[in-house]
Amino acid sequence: MSEVKKIAVIAGDGIGPEVVGEALKVLKKTEELFGYQFETEHGLFGGIAIDEKGTPLPQETLDICKSADAVLLGAVGGPKWDNNPKELRPETGLLGIRKALGLFSNIRPATVFDCLKEASTLKPEVLEGTDLIVVRELTGGIYFGEKFRREGANGQEAVDTCVYNVQEVERIVRQAFEIAMTRSKRLASVDKANVLETSRLWREVVNRIAPEYPEVELEHVLVDNCAMQLLRRPSSFDVIVTENMFGDILSDEAAMLTGSIGMLSSASLGEGSFGLYEPVHGSAPDIAGQGISNPIATILSVALMFRLTFGYAEAADSIEKAVKEVLDAGHRTSDIAVDKSKAVSTTQMGDLIIAAMKK
Ligand code: IPM
Ligand code: MN
Repeated sequence: MSEVKKIAVIAGDGIGPEVVGEALKVLKKTEELFGYQFETEHGLFGGIAIDEKGTPLPQETLDICKSADAVLLGAVGGPKWDNNPKELRPETGLLGIRKALGLFSNIRPATVFDCLKEASTLKPEVLEGTDLIVVRELTGGIYFGEKFRREGANGQEAVDTCVYNVQEVERIVRQAFEIAMTRSKRLASVDKANVLETSRLWREVVNRIAPEYPEVELEHVLVDNCAMQLLRRPSSFDVIVTENMFGDILSDEAAMLTGSIGMLSSASLGEGSFGLYEPVHGSAPDIAGQGISNPIATILSVALMFRLTFGYAEAADSIEKAVKEVLDAGHRTSDIAVDKSKAVSTTQMGDLIIAAMKK
C-alpha cells in the first residue's frame, strides 16, 4: 500500500460541483486499480463561500489547502456575485489563494485532440500537430501591483501598477526552460520589451538564463505579434513563457485553438511538489445544474496532479488513455458533440471513462 495522499477539494460554483464529482469517481477508481490511497477534505470557496461565510476564501479553506498535498478546484464565479464589491468577489478569492499558497507558475497545455479537430474554428490544416503549453507567471505583475484611485486635473483617475523583480522572473523562466527540456526544446518568451520596462527586465533575465540551456531554441516574441502567430502558425510553438496578464490573455486564445475548452486542464505550482489543479474553463452558470457539462477537463486535471505532484505516471496514463478511448468511440458531451441529440450527460461521461480505465 502506498502512503495516504491528502487532496483538498474545492468544488466552487456553477458546474464546479458536477465536474468535480466525476473527477472524484476517477480518483476512487485509481485507488481500486493501483492501490493508491487518497484522503479528501472539502472546502468552501468562491461564490458559495461568500454566501455561507461572508468571504470568498475562508481561513478554514486555506488551512485545508495548506495541510494537503494537492488541491483540486472546480470553478468559481457567476452573475450572482458580479456586482459585489471587490472583497466579496469570487475572483478575489482566486487571486488570494494563488498568493497565499505561493503558486507562482500556471501551466496551461493546449493540445488539439485529433478526433476533435473539427470542433475548432480554425482550419484543420493550420492546427495539425498543435501541442503547446503556456507557462504563465501567476503571482506578480499588474494583477498584484498597487492599485488606487486619485483626483487628477481632469477628475478621477485610476492607477494599476505593474512590478516584477528579478527573482520572480528568474524562477518562472527557469521552470519554463526545464519544461521545454522535457518536450520539443523550443521556448518562446513573450513580452512587450519595445514599450514596457518590466518587459525589458524580463528579457534581460531570459537572455542571462538561456546559456544554461543550450539545447533549447529560444525566441523572443512581442505579445501582440504572439497573439497573431498563435492563429497563423500554432503548431510551431512548444512552450510559451510570459508574465501574468499576457499569459491570462494568450492562454484563453491558445485554449480556443483546440475548439474544446471543456477538455483542457491546468496546474498552478509553487516551489516543491505541491500544486493546485483545475479545468481551464469557468463555472458556466448558464448550464449549471443541467447535468450536461463536460467533466473531461477536471478529470484530466487529476491526471496532471498524478503526474506533477504525486509522480503516479502509470495512473495518469491510465486516465488519459481512457479519455482518448471514450472519445475515439464517439462519445461526446454536448459542448463537443456535432449531433447534440446523441450527446451523453456529465455522469455518463464520467462512467464511460472509469469503465475504460485499466491498469
Ligand atoms: C484565469 C481567470 C482569472 C485570472 C480571473 C477569474 C481572476 O481569468 O484563471 O485565467 O484572470 O487569472
Ligand atoms: Mn483568464
